[in-house]
Amino acid sequence: AIERTFSIIKPDATRRNLTGAINAVFEKNGLKIVAQKRLWMSRAQAKEFYKVHAERPFYNDLVDFMVSGPVVVQVLEGEGAVAKNRDLMGATNPANAAEGTIRKLFAESIEANSVHGSDSPENAAVEIAYFFAGTEIVG
Ligand code: CMP
Repeated sequence: AIERTFSIIKPDATRRNLTGAINAVFEKNGLKIVAQKRLWMSRAQAKEFYKVHAERPFYNDLVDFMVSGPVVVQVLEGEGAVAKNRDLMGATNPANAAEGTIRKLFAESIEANSVHGSDSPENAAVEIAYFFAGTEIVG
């Protein structure tokens, strides 16, 4: 089915001017960017967005990293968009990411791993609503 997923191009990637290169991977693979904006997250926003990881040892560093520069938040639409985007991103740790995936191509480390993508359609809906009003999403 056609679905939507939420994506973030992270500060390590915006810093290296990789927004277009990453978007090209999405578009070449049938994901349509139906909403997109560049913003600098507040610490409160980053902490709330990643609160499922609040008890993990990497949480504070992750929040610091996510507020270290601008991000591009996006809604991607396409056939099986959640799973497709996760395939295109590759493994969280770039050392384990398959050839040709965004993280293999661009990520610097397990933390500075260039992109975030929703892990389920349910979380996609929550994450999209956290950053976008319905009127900002144009399919
Ligand atoms: P993301 O998909 O945005 O979800 C949580 C993020 O935490 C993850 O990508 C990584 O950027 C970051 N992270 C840092 N260290 C770890 C770790 N050891 N395991 C998983 N995620 C990590």
